Amino acid sequence: MIDKALRKNRELWDAWTKIHVDSEFYDVESFRNGERPIRVAEYELEEVGSVDGKTLLHLQCHFGLDTLSWARLGATVTGVDFSEQAVAAARALAADVGIPARFVVSDIYGLPDVLDERFDVVYTSCGVLGWLPDIVAWGRVAAHFVRPGGFLYLTEIHPVAEVFENEGVEPGELRLAYPYWSHAEPLRFEVKGSYADREAPTDGLVEYGWDHSLGEILTSLAEAGLRLEFLHEFDFVRWPVDFLVEGGDGRWRLPEGAKGTLPFFFSLKATKPAQDG
Ligand SMILES: C[S@@+](CC[C@H](N)C(=O)[O-])C[C@H]1O[C@@H](n2cnc3c(N)ncnc32)[C@H](O)[C@@H]1O
Repeated sequence: MIDKALRKNRELWDAWTKIHVDSEFYDVESFRNGERPIRVAEYELEEVGSVDGKTLLHLQCHFGLDTLSWARLGATVTGVDFSEQAVAAARALAADVGIPARFVVSDIYGLPDVLDERFDVVYTSCGVLGWLPDIVAWGRVAAHFVRPGGFLYLTEIHPVAEVFENEGVEPGELRLAYPYWSHAEPLRFEVKGSYADREAPTDGLVEYGWDHSLGEILTSLAEAGLRLEFLHEFDFVRWPVDFLVEGGDGRWRLPEGAKGTLPFFFSLKATKPAQDG
């Protein structure tokens, strides 16, 4: 079942890549012409700090906009994704804008078999963990690639945001629908468009997903030998969500007047202790 789910997800990401490269959401042209040359968020720049002169591995890099942004900021970058279309698009974009970068096609779980290096920074962000069946194995892979003294940085939708129904609901309508903790059987959804273009034709495509609790994510990193430096929780999501409303800053939050708040996104930094302690 897991093999089939991963195969179907790869087909989906191959198809979505073609849609995303042409989408307003990603607005590749303004990356190309330098109008919007850096695509990682302001808070990521602050939290990650300077990457100038550092080696950076980007796990699940999609078609490389964030990877190439880190390269523009001085990092020597390697991006990895299991979608051949995504990696082809990333390589084409890198060549087009003249940014040196290496992109590798690999399933995340098989990466230690094809890449024998360690990195100052392992970076992964925005819609990555929900595609992964095994969060413990993910933590091992992520930690594996951090050099002693280096760190992993992750920013992602908060597992709390994933428990609510996101179709046919009104802004502010929080209807419990999905598991909070990890589950063996994937959830299956018929795909309707994409988060980047809700009207895009995606007939016949399906998506399989898994949930992982915040505790499971943190514990997987701790068990793999990383030490948490911070965990920040945010009140927004960085893409359209039906139960939230878009604000002027292009982020989606609970509507004004909502009673109470919840965390909908998070970021964390976890370091690998230096060998000499
Ligand atoms: C939402 S995107 C990452 C977002 C990225 N930060 C962006 O907006 O450009 C998720 C990526 O994970 C990749 N992916 C999903 N499952 C994977 C797996 N098992 N191994 C490697 N990559 C995977 C997909 O191909 C996709 O490019």
